Amino acid sequence: MSRTTLLHVVGARPNFMKVAPVHRAASERGIAQVMVHTGQHYDATMSDRFFDDLGLSAPEVNLGVGGGSHAEQTARIMMAFEPVLDRFGPEWVVVYGDVNSTVAAALVSAKKGVRICHVEAGLRSGDRTMPEEVNRVVTDQLSDLCLTPSADGDDNLMAEGIPAHRIVRVGNVMVDTLLRFCGAARALQMAGRMGVTRRDYAVVTLHRPGNVDDPAVLRELLEALDDLGSRMPVLFAVHPRTRLRIDALGWSSAHPGLRLLGPLGYLETIGLAQDAALVLTDSGGLQEETTVLGVPCLTARPNTERPITVSEGTNRLVESSRAAIALAIEETLARSVGGAYEAKRPALWDGHAGERVVEAMISRLPASA
Ligand code: UD1
Repeated sequence: MSRTTLLHVVGARPNFMKVAPVHRAASERGIAQVMVHTGQHYDATMSDRFFDDLGLSAPEVNLGVGGGSHAEQTARIMMAFEPVLDRFGPEWVVVYGDVNSTVAAALVSAKKGVRICHVEAGLRSGDRTMPEEVNRVVTDQLSDLCLTPSADGDDNLMAEGIPAHRIVRVGNVMVDTLLRFCGAARALQMAGRMGVTRRDYAVVTLHRPGNVDDPAVLRELLEALDDLGSRMPVLFAVHPRTRLRIDALGWSSAHPGLRLLGPLGYLETIGLAQDAALVLTDSGGLQEETTVLGVPCLTARPNTERPITVSEGTNRLVESSRAAIALAIEETLARSVGGAYEAKRPALWDGHAGERVVEAMISRLPASA
């Protein structure tokens, strides 16, 4: 077997949009690569659907780890990943974003002395109560190459003592995928299919533990959505974790304008987001996607690891309370009357980050490799 150059590790929904452009760029250069799916996300709507939408072939390996507590999930991924790493012996292990699969694969690779490349390095919310923040800090410390989407990422890494030669700003791989697929998403004509009118509906996603695990907070959010549903259709794509919590609350919507849907595919999500009047979310990816699409975004969180979406883009943080959300919606709709927001697209969010990721790794391999 010829030696594998890149071994990509993915596991959860937001990883799939990030690996796609890197995998494509490496394929175009004829680089030997394999993709390992940890199985952190396993439902067809959370995983297979994304591979189909993104034109990605099935991963060569699926570790099938499934859910569990953070410790269980991370430990199971580590144990299942180790023999796979031994089997392929790659030049680089490539990890993406901030999910449990990312930190688990980085820990195993670091102990084995295999080079680690972290795509979407350097993001910090400053909030260590978020599991993702812990994953980001640890993964960056272990990575030989920290590839950042924006200048704040470089600054954060240097402040944590990571030497400059390990940091390369490549831009945003999520935006590569968005720019590649927004035409296909538009062709789905999602608004028409959902029976809503362009710029007269809201798209909602909520799944962070901080928003959905505390019944009092979740209730506030659901009431805020009911309020919004009385003025425009609200399409709420409900994550499995959130669905469990809503069911446990025994809550049902007071207003027919609020529609609880299952998780949406990638093209469906982008298709709906690009024509929405506003997006209300706690997702990381949607903060970036709405910035590029010029659609107002309210992020129901006290902080964000993506501050550039606030300073340059269309994002605004809002407290997870009924009153704060109502006020923010009022102000947002008043500001965006008649169409999309004016927003600047951050530097290097240009559709070519995947090529820069591959170049950063290949240019650092010894000449004999
Ligand atoms: C994970 C990521 C989060 C990311 C999110 C996107 C971590 C720490 N968090 O959170 O950063 O924004 O993915 O969705 O890695 N479940 C299913 N089917 C699935 C997947 C999950 O039913 O295919 C349910 C299970 O009950 C599971 C729960 O959702 O226990 C949570 O899944 P998990 O992978 O632990 O974290 P997410 O909340 O999805």
